[in-house]
Amino acid sequence: MIIENETILIVDYGSQYTQLIARKIREQNVYCLVHPYNKIGSKILKNKNLSGIILSGGPNSVKDKKSPKLDKKILGLKIPILGICYGLQLLCKEFNGKIGQSSSREYGHSLINCINQSQLFKGVKKNSQVWMSHGDHIEKAPNGFVVTSFSNKNIISSIQNKKKMIYGLQFHPEVYHSLDGNKILSNFLSKICKISSYFKLDDFLSNKIYDYKKKLNNKKVICGVSGGVDSTVTSFLLHKAIKNNLYCIFVDHGLLRFKESNEVVTIFKKKFGKNFKRVDASNIFLSKLKKIKDPEKKRKIIGKTFIEIFEKEAKKIKNVQYLAQGTLYPDIIESIPFFGGPTAKIKSHHNVGGLPKKMNLKIVEPLKELFKDEVRILGKKLKISSDLLNRHPFPGPGLAIRIPGEIDRKKIDILKRVDNHFINYLKKRNIYKKIWQAFAILLPVKSVGVMGDERTYSYSIAIRAVTSVDGMTADFYMFSKEDLTEISKQIISNVKEVNRVLYDFTSKPPGTIEWE
Ligand code: XMP
Repeated sequence: MIIENETILIVDYGSQYTQLIARKIREQNVYCLVHPYNKIGSKILKNKNLSGIILSGGPNSVKDKKSPKLDKKILGLKIPILGICYGLQLLCKEFNGKIGQSSSREYGHSLINCINQSQLFKGVKKNSQVWMSHGDHIEKAPNGFVVTSFSNKNIISSIQNKKKMIYGLQFHPEVYHSLDGNKILSNFLSKICKISSYFKLDDFLSNKIYDYKKKLNNKKVICGVSGGVDSTVTSFLLHKAIKNNLYCIFVDHGLLRFKESNEVVTIFKKKFGKNFKRVDASNIFLSKLKKIKDPEKKRKIIGKTFIEIFEKEAKKIKNVQYLAQGTLYPDIIESIPFFGGPTAKIKSHHNVGGLPKKMNLKIVEPLKELFKDEVRILGKKLKISSDLLNRHPFPGPGLAIRIPGEIDRKKIDILKRVDNHFINYLKKRNIYKKIWQAFAILLPVKSVGVMGDERTYSYSIAIRAVTSVDGMTADFYMFSKEDLTEISKQIISNVKEVNRVLYDFTSKPPGTIEWE
């Protein structure tokens, strides 16, 4: 029953595009895993399904003594290797080619001119546009390697050693601006790695259900649900496998969007009946957050209170052995400390990560191999409504981090109504789907206005709308003047407590998406 997929290993040297490589490979229905260059265990290298390896780009120069090195065991596997940017330079160094350092980076669009036949470039246009981002470049290809293309700045942009099955690209095929990038990756997978068994979400789903039926037979599992995509798909998938042995708990902190809490209850009651419980904890959360202004304190209080309440509720269900979590593959990749160095903590994320240790439960994470877009497709297969699946991301601490300063019930109520008018407008105008995340922020500022002949002194609202791929970086969305005018009108005419609307046109970085 279990189908083992042919796998591509992506070795991460710290490029901002590594996850993008993985997504592009998955888009071609090929299974892949990402491992930091210094954490490749022998287990993965011994995997008999390993069909190819991609060495990612990275911020270092191979000429620096301390720069990340190539794990020689990789070369010993005798399977196809594709080096991208830093990955190419590592291969070049390994085989005694010559690397040059330029004073300026080659960054942005470039055209490549293919001068020798390569399976990698089958079906690729003669002067194809690619995306470059590098300081170092190859001055002389290693012995045994052939140069297959040059860039229009006359820089070697690809090399290969067909016999050794080693290929290298100076540009980034995974980036959208490399117009034939998908074709090049697809050629690597099908023509060079000769992948023949494709990763299908239908198989994934039936395998998971089959596995959990066996593994969790007669065992009780609890799952915290929030109405978000990940926890909903997790619970629906597990329900297929273990039916009434799954118990879902919804800790309602009272900080969800307009009418969202009721929607969650309706969906889950219908699916899980008596095995679903909503715990109305808004009073507890609000009293603990009273007079708290500091964003980090707010986040910590919410995270801790959530765990306390969930734990208390879970204990009421006897003989539970497992806790289900909606962990996704990017969460796994990001939780591995890269280069062993500490990364600056920007915000304490609210999740249920602290629960299993505290409660002594085993964890089940049915989605831990998947990316968000795959989870949405799986959700569709599980017949979850597309409204829920395509909802913009929403942070665990909810509206509390969209009200800078102290929060109270009145402010939450104003923000819910403002946000609802804003989002409804985006949906009505078909802009919602073009935006990665949009929401309103209630500012702790009142200002003077005039409505009719009356003076007003009311709240100011900021609206935020960003485009992004994964939330790690983001660009503010460019509304037309007509849209901005209409959004402001809708909010002010419908929510009497507000008389001023501001637009947040900050990208990430330097801003973050949420205000706190
Ligand atoms: P920032 O504000 O860090 O947000 O740019 C990036 C993305 O993460 C979401 N976010 C959270 N999600 N728990 C979550 O589950 C949290 O504590 C949390 N804080 C921020 C945010 O909405 C955006 O999509």
